[in-house]
Amino acid sequence: MTLTGEQQAVLEAAERGQSVFVTGRAGTGKSTLLARLVREMPGKVVVCAPTGVAALNVGGQTIHSLFGLRVGVQDVTRISRTMSRETREVLAAVDTVIVDEVSMVSADLLDAMDRSLRVAKRRSRAPFGGAQLIMFGDPYQLAPVPPRTPDERAFYTHRYQSQWFFDAQVWQEAQVSVYELTNIHRQRHDGFKQLLDAVREGRVPDHWIARLNQIGHRQPPADEPIITLATTNRTVDRRNAEELARLPGRSSVARADIEGEFGSAFPADPELELKPDAQVMFLRNDPDGRWVNGSIGTVVAIRPDKVIVELDGSDVEVEPVVWERYAYTFDDETQTIEQEQVGEFTQFPLRLAWAVTIHKSQGQTYDRAVIDLGARAFSPGQVYVALSRLTSLDGLYLTRPVRQRDIIVDARVQEFMRTASSPMF
Ligand SMILES: Nc1ncnc2c1ncn2[C@@H]1O[C@H](COP(=O)(O)OP(=O)(O)OP(=O)(O)O)[C@@H](O)[C@H]1O
Ligand SMILES: [Mg+2]
Repeated sequence: MTLTGEQQAVLEAAERGQSVFVTGRAGTGKSTLLARLVREMPGKVVVCAPTGVAALNVGGQTIHSLFGLRVGVQDVTRISRTMSRETREVLAAVDTVIVDEVSMVSADLLDAMDRSLRVAKRRSRAPFGGAQLIMFGDPYQLAPVPPRTPDERAFYTHRYQSQWFFDAQVWQEAQVSVYELTNIHRQRHDGFKQLLDAVREGRVPDHWIARLNQIGHRQPPADEPIITLATTNRTVDRRNAEELARLPGRSSVARADIEGEFGSAFPADPELELKPDAQVMFLRNDPDGRWVNGSIGTVVAIRPDKVIVELDGSDVEVEPVVWERYAYTFDDETQTIEQEQVGEFTQFPLRLAWAVTIHKSQGQTYDRAVIDLGARAFSPGQVYVALSRLTSLDGLYLTRPVRQRDIIVDARVQEFMRTASSPMF
């Protein structure tokens, strides 16, 4: 794929060693550019992300494991005492830290990353200890998980303006250049792009909502596989189980082979229950190009070593694949950091796909989908993430009309994006 001019400009800025925050609307090619950067950046590069699944997607590790941090609110004053020798060695040798899905990184976590790098590199006055940070994300999409306990909430109110990464203390000090990718590659139709912009910013005229609901109000096709995007895990699990139970055949369970360290962030179901005619989604790109991550098909037959899936009218044979989990370690002899494989997870790259949460659909592309907002949408950006997965409005099916109050925008994000978008872009 050829990078566009604006993607190329970010690549060049990154190669100059600047710390950058790369943002842009859904489908502007942020993840595509990240993959390219990982390959082209000189120096010692590490890749990380706030959640296990997001980290696996980019071949990196979680921020918590890379920086040796505990879960929960971060106390930066303890870092110099608690950092292990291994973490110190790895971080001391790093030139560039690439972070994906930074919208899910909370302010205290970014400050903990900053402090860890300063400690490891023995440069207490330099933001990020002098390392380069390259962060990707769209704050109008997924937010950090809100504080769970009253104490954590109190900590935030006391210390930070908000939980957002751009309210971290280091953000004021570090010279982070902001780049916005503006060309949308996922959708073609200008009217749909304008509607998505309006939803993203929470200013959708009533008559546009009426039009959206008119388009979405119809029965999903009975003859083609279609995915449901729902707000809660309960709805998703219920819908997948109901649909699987409705099928007449006997179910088979494929158990994943798990070796080494994998924690609990599995890239696929450890026990995958399938039946002939089950609707499934692919979780990986096929090296031979027969399917991509997100392709939806129907199970034809299940054998011990392979599953036959019908995809766009033809049958493909799917074999188990290996997901590798990496950790960065420091090699004393060569004085360099190495990416070492610490775990392997082998499973068919498939999951039941009558439904997924909107949260898990983040980053994906679909030609058609049923959107089920349940009783209400409850997170900022939820409706935007759901609608922006679609390549076109022709593929939109709504279980109920979208209401103005489903469209939630975080006021602090609006404020930040307004100031960030003036001189720096
Ligand atoms: N330079 C390009 N030329 C053509 N297609 C591109 C280009 N960059 C990205 N795309 C395509 O556009 C689609 C969206 O790209 P990508 O997933 O990288 O966007 P994103 O900004 O990460 O979106 P999201 O915010 O939803 O995660 C993908 O199908 C990708 O292959
Ligand atoms: Mg992406």
